[in-house]
Amino acid sequence: MSLALKSPCKINLLLNILRKQEDGYHELETVMQPVPIFDELEFQRGGTGIQLRCSDPALPTDSRNLVVRAAELFFASSGTREGVRIQLEKRVPLAAGLGGGSANAATTLRGLNQLLDHPLAPEQIGTIATRLGSDVPFFLQDQPALGLHRGELVQPLEAFAALHGKGLLLIHPGFGVSTPWAYRNLARFPSALNGTPGRARQLIEKLRTNDLRTAAGGFYNSLEAPVLDKHPILRMFQEFLLANGALVALMSGSGSTTFAITETQASAELLGKQFAAKYPNCWIAHVELK
Ligand code: C5P
Repeated sequence: MSLALKSPCKINLLLNILRKQEDGYHELETVMQPVPIFDELEFQRGGTGIQLRCSDPALPTDSRNLVVRAAELFFASSGTREGVRIQLEKRVPLAAGLGGGSANAATTLRGLNQLLDHPLAPEQIGTIATRLGSDVPFFLQDQPALGLHRGELVQPLEAFAALHGKGLLLIHPGFGVSTPWAYRNLARFPSALNGTPGRARQLIEKLRTNDLRTAAGGFYNSLEAPVLDKHPILRMFQEFLLANGALVALMSGSGSTTFAITETQASAELLGKQFAAKYPNCWIAHVELK
């Protein structure tokens, strides 16, 4: 018996860091939007232990891979010792700020629970997800959401009226950014490290209206301070996108992906073509937002 599941990604419409906590993590408020661009995971019972195969040779297939770590914690928590083969077809870029690895981990927890007849309750799955990473719990559900604390406290929200039918353009520059590096380097930018709480709620209110132009000023990412300082090309990407009709241009998560929001998917596709003519060799994708 086998089970195939799609593993989506996300963008952060807002990522407002509030302070560095004593445990080294950062308290933040974030507004996350699911993006329908997918990796694929296939789960099969059989063999011994956890065997992962991955389409991308750059990814390790041992415990360094979040899929394997998710499966290990799943089996430790359920007390079962089944053999499982997992195939990961990677399409979402790595170290991109799109949560691809976190989504793979969440999809593995959901997939194994389904494949093995639900040995774990949803609360147990949630606890494992939180241990795996701050972004993993978001991917246990499929709505836009407010993320609090270190991002793992997820409050699902209704789809945003202001984004309905808009075009989303994603641009990955071909290099990644290390998330711990981005957080560590926030120390050099005190105002980005100590953001004012409440920006998430303000943006959510604006996104509930039908007016993206008014909401556009509320999109914000504290981690742009260190990342755009190190990679000024990403600032040039945003300037080009805004000069050529994007309503919003921002970095997602800890980067390196830049996203732009446009009036329609057709305009996102056209903007992507203009962008590629100026900046070749980037990974570019466009979708319609729901
Ligand atoms: O939670 P996750 O494992 O995805 O976090 C990766 C790294 O990002 C952490 O080790 C930490 O350096 C940083 N981080 C943080 N504050 C957060 C989330 C992540 O400092 N709220």
